[in-house]
Amino acid sequence: MINSHTQAVVLLGDPVTHSLSPLMQNAAFKATGLNCAYLATRVKQTDIAIAVAAIPVLGFVGANVTVPHKKAVLPLMDVLHQDCQLIGAVNTIVNDNGKLKGYNTDSEGFMRALGDVGYQPEGARVIVLGAGGAARAVVVGMALRGVKEINIFNRSRAKAVALARQVQELGVSANVYDWSSLITESDSARQAFINANLIVQTTSLGMPPMESEYPPVPLKWLTDKHLVYDLVYNPPETKFLNKARQSGAKTVNGLGMLLYQGVTAFELWTRCAAPVELMRTVLRNELGR
Ligand code: ATR
Repeated sequence: MINSHTQAVVLLGDPVTHSLSPLMQNAAFKATGLNCAYLATRVKQTDIAIAVAAIPVLGFVGANVTVPHKKAVLPLMDVLHQDCQLIGAVNTIVNDNGKLKGYNTDSEGFMRALGDVGYQPEGARVIVLGAGGAARAVVVGMALRGVKEINIFNRSRAKAVALARQVQELGVSANVYDWSSLITESDSARQAFINANLIVQTTSLGMPPMESEYPPVPLKWLTDKHLVYDLVYNPPETKFLNKARQSGAKTVNGLGMLLYQGVTAFELWTRCAAPVELMRTVLRNELGR
């Protein structure tokens, strides 16, 4: 029941109507008996500074930030958490007695999702397909949490090189491969796949409207020693995941990362343990599986 004591968390984005966060977070507030409400608000790019300034003024508990504001919000924070600084994007804001603290829960969300399926990152060699915003969160998460080597394949080499440099600055080994090395089946690319036990698909291939597309990874390079993680969660099994599964790899879709970025945000706002299984069920039901 919303009453005069209800505390608000808002989602700032444009568009926001596709977001599953209101359903997931409101179910979590209800289950934990917290008098909080989560509301999605559409904010124009020209209004984002006003919207952020309103958080302490209106006494909101905090916010989630989504496209297109994740970068713009960065300089508006009083304090930035390390993940968020390295990723260069904020997805969660905590109002700590009027001080705005910026976080990015995508890294933590990704690592917790990996933990959920029993993957241990310590000392691992991994492959990352893509070098955009989502790849940055994944790569920062892994670099800060123990992986030994990150091998990045991206269509635009310059973006992969920039991301690899950032990984190296964190003291982790990083290599860049041309996207075409997948098509030409270069020896060095093949060797990277042989040495890796995790392949993370972060590109938009497989996501509507590119459902029928997938990265040109030679399927014979995928074996039962690989965990293939596709950040896409809708459709639940991309063409890439389907082919990887048929090649014997263990496959996981991006629902876990979506879930755990929300779980981590919930914990930051409320300092309470999140009802993880309930939140997972809400997402699964909503996505029809
Ligand atoms: P997100 O925030 O979801 O990561 P993004 O920052 O736009 O979105 O990144 C999209 C990623 O998908 C990039 O790695 C992009 O490759 P480029 O850096 O070369 O643009 C990749 N991508 C998108 N369409 C692609 C395609 N048709 N083939 C290969 N990679 C593609």
